[in-house]
Order: sequence, then structure tokens, then C-alpha cells
Amino acid sequence: MGLGLRRIGKTFVAQATGYDLRQPLTPTQVAEVEAALAEHGVLVFGGQPLDETQQYAFIKSFGPTTVATLKEIAGNNQNFFDVGTVDDEGKPIAGDSVKGEYLRANRLWHTDGSFNQPPIRLTALLARELPPVPPPTEYADMRAAWDALPASRQAQLEHLMVEHSVLRSREQTGMTAEKFTSDTLQTRKPVSHPLVRTHPANGRKSLYLASHASHIIGWPLEKGRALVEELIAFATQERFVYSHPWQVHELVMWDDRWTMHRATAYDGPHPRKMRQCSVRELEPV
Ligand code: OGA
Ligand code: MN
Repeated sequence: MGLGLRRIGKTFVAQATGYDLRQPLTPTQVAEVEAALAEHGVLVFGGQPLDETQQYAFIKSFGPTTVATLKEIAGNNQNFFDVGTVDDEGKPIAGDSVKGEYLRANRLWHTDGSFNQPPIRLTALLARELPPVPPPTEYADMRAAWDALPASRQAQLEHLMVEHSVLRSREQTGMTAEKFTSDTLQTRKPVSHPLVRTHPANGRKSLYLASHASHIIGWPLEKGRALVEELIAFATQERFVYSHPWQVHELVMWDDRWTMHRATAYDGPHPRKMRQCSVRELEPV
């Protein structure tokens, strides 16, 4: 059975049907998912109760995985990044713990792992357990945002380079450098990426931004920060945003090259268990 796709956002995001992701994907199926991500950016697969082994096998069929090597946030399974409200033992993650502080920055608009070089390319997030009224995750279409800019503005932006770092996103939610291990501070030095990216599958351009984006290389810091902030605000206007209301066992997969996303606040008493894994680009970007 082929991949069924139905657009559910205004400009992007599709409901994807017809695949059982617990089964190994054939190369044809991988190619279909890649093509659907290039076209829709975010795919929602319902009814996918994957265990750890199956989710890891699924993501690995798209390329080399990234590992949650930041010691401050790693759980028992190094292949995953758990972004829920409880730890491996089911204990609530305290808001003032290092992991709690780290996760709070997920509420800022971001694309995953842009502070790495090579950065993350695709992410798969599985809802394992949800509160009765789950907090939605919001997605922004940075291709539609790029297309909406006047050509004169596009020309000014096209060749700019942006510095990204994990410390930049964290400092915005109050997590300062001394909370990180010296290992992280040494291995996660700032990296630079183009502000505008071209998708290899279809040649479409998009903005490439995130909470990790700090400033423009070669510009005065404050001027570069102001531009990054202005463009993130532009790209996350309601007309470019889709808000996903989660159901248990949904797996949402997104293309980190041309979308951003953010978590919404949830401080309720019920556990929220989300398991994330990603693949990275093969070459520096
Ligand atoms: C992520 C993430 C948002 C959420 O897993 O990368 O940003 O709503 N998650 O949990
Ligand atoms: Mn994320």
C-alpha cells in the first residue's frame, strides 16, 4: 500500500496513512516519506505504538542518527531524547532541575539541532502517553514565509550567515552557561549556517532560523540579533503556523531544514511522555 497524504495545515503539514511504522520500511517507502517531507514539511502518522527498537529502526532508515550526547539531558537510552514531563522512572522532572530548565527552551520557536554541524535534518516525535487535554505542538512554515517576502528583501537576506549555539536558546529562558557540563561547553561551540536554504529535492528556498540562532556573522551583534528576532516573528505569524493537537501513538515527523516548531506550556499533574529521535545531515551546512 502506498503512502496516503492529506493536507491538514494552511500551507503545509499532511496526515499520512497506509504505513505500519513498526515494520521495516522498504527503500521505496523511505523515498516516499522523504518526498512527502520535502513537499509537506510535517507528516502526522496516527496509530503507531512503536517500541524503542522499532522507533530506532524507523529513524535509522533515513540516515545516521544523532545521539542525545548532552550529558545534562540524556536518559537511559542514548538514542532518544525524551521531551516529556517525567524521567525514566516516571518521576516528574522539576522545573528548576537542569533537564527541566533545558526543556523549557523547547517553548521557543526552533528547528532541532541547528547548533550542531552538520545539523539535524529530520526528527520523529512519538506520543507515548498524554494528559487528558494534551498541550499542542506548533509548527511554522519557513518556506511560505520566505515566499511571502518581497524580492528586494529576499536579495538582501540571501547570502547572510547566522551563528547558532545551544547556549543562545538556553540563555533566553534563563539557563546560563554554568549549568552546562564542561564537556558540552567544549564540544558545542557555536556554528554558522546560511540564513536561506535551498531544498535539494525541489529547489525551493526557505528561511533557516531557530531559538539557537544568535546573530549575523560579520554584523554588529545587536543589529544581527534584531534581524534574527524580526525574521522569527515574521515567519511565525498565524498564517504560517499549524497547531497540532496530539493523540496517543501518533508519530509526527518533520523536515528540520524548512520548518520550525515549539512546545506549548503544560504544567499539569498528568504525565506527558514524548520520545524524540533524529537524523543529521551527511555534510556540513
Ligand atoms: C522536540 C520538541 C516539542 C513538544 O521534541 O524537538 O521540540 O511539544 N518537542 O514536545
Ligand atoms: Mn524540538
